[in-house]
Formats: sequence, C-alpha cells, structure tokens
Amino acid sequence: LQKTFVMIKPDGVKRKLVGEIIGRIERKGLDIIAMKLVKMSKEAAEKLYEEHKGKSFYQDLVSYITSGPVLCMVVAGDEAVAVMRKMIGATDPKEASPGTIRGDLALSKGENVIHASDSEEKAKKEMSIFFSDSEIIAG
Ligand code: GTP
Ligand code: MG
Repeated sequence: LQKTFVMIKPDGVKRKLVGEIIGRIERKGLDIIAMKLVKMSKEAAEKLYEEHKGKSFYQDLVSYITSGPVLCMVVAGDEAVAVMRKMIGATDPKEASPGTIRGDLALSKGENVIHASDSEEKAKKEMSIFFSDSEIIAG
C-alpha cells in the first residue's frame, strides 16, 4: 500500500471540477485519507515546486498556484503514486490522453487542473507541507 499527495489546482476549484475529480479517484478504488481546502502561501508554493526554481515558468507557476484555493488530499492504495500519475495524464493537456483527468478537463499547460506526486519520496515531502501526521487517517 502506498500514499501519494494529490492537489486540485486553483483553476480546477474555480471551474467546480472538485466533485468530478474526487469521483474519479473514488471510482478507481483509491482511498482519500486526508483532505483540506487551502489558500497556499508563497512559502508553501516555493517548497512544493522547489525543483523548478530558476526555470522560465517558475514565477508564473508560483503566482498561479497561490491565486486561489486548492484542494489538497492524501490518496492511498496499491501503487497509488504511479496510478495517480497515470490518471492525471501528461503535463501538457494537449498531449494528455483522453480518459485522463488533464486529457478530459484541461487545455493549458500553465493551468492543468491537478497535481500528483511523481515519486514516493516526493509524496512524503509534499504531504508534510500541508498535513500533520494526526490529520492523515491511519489505515
Ligand atoms: P505537477 O503535478 O503540477 O508537478 O505537474 P507535472 O509533474 O506533470 O509537471 P512538472 O512538475 O514538470 O511541472 C510542474 C507544473 O509547472 C506543471 O504542472 C505546469 O503547471 C507548470 N509547467 C511546467 N512546464 C511549464 C511550461 O513550459 N510552461 C508553463 N506555463 N507552465 C509549465
Ligand atoms: Mg511535477
């Protein structure tokens, strides 16, 4: 069993896609074991996207991700990290396959609806930015 960090980005919340996306995660058979709606601080955004510091899109990314509320979740299940990455689809929604969340619900690389951790190590780091251990329901 694995845990991963999943976040519906400001455009997803604004476009009222929360129910649609949570429905997909639930129907897949994954378990949501923590959930929180937050207006992200600049500090949290910089920690979450540390790996992209210095890239051309970094400032745009930080201002976009702090522009409105995001829905943060911890999702658990067998191979949860890889399964969620497959479900969200490619970073650029124009490349994302139909049937994936980005493939079905987004069109812009800058505003691509959802984030999911790309490794178990990153999942641990990202969960700890938004959740204390006591906020995550133990299996
Ligand atoms: P996350 O799950 O959000 O981390 O996306 P990802 O892992 O599929 O992509 P990556 O970590 O490489 O990039 C993080 C985020 O930065 C992306 O989801 C995009 O929102 C944004 N991003 C990446 N590349 C570009 C780019 O070339 N232009 C713009 N505007 N945004 C980008
Ligand atoms: Mg990433």
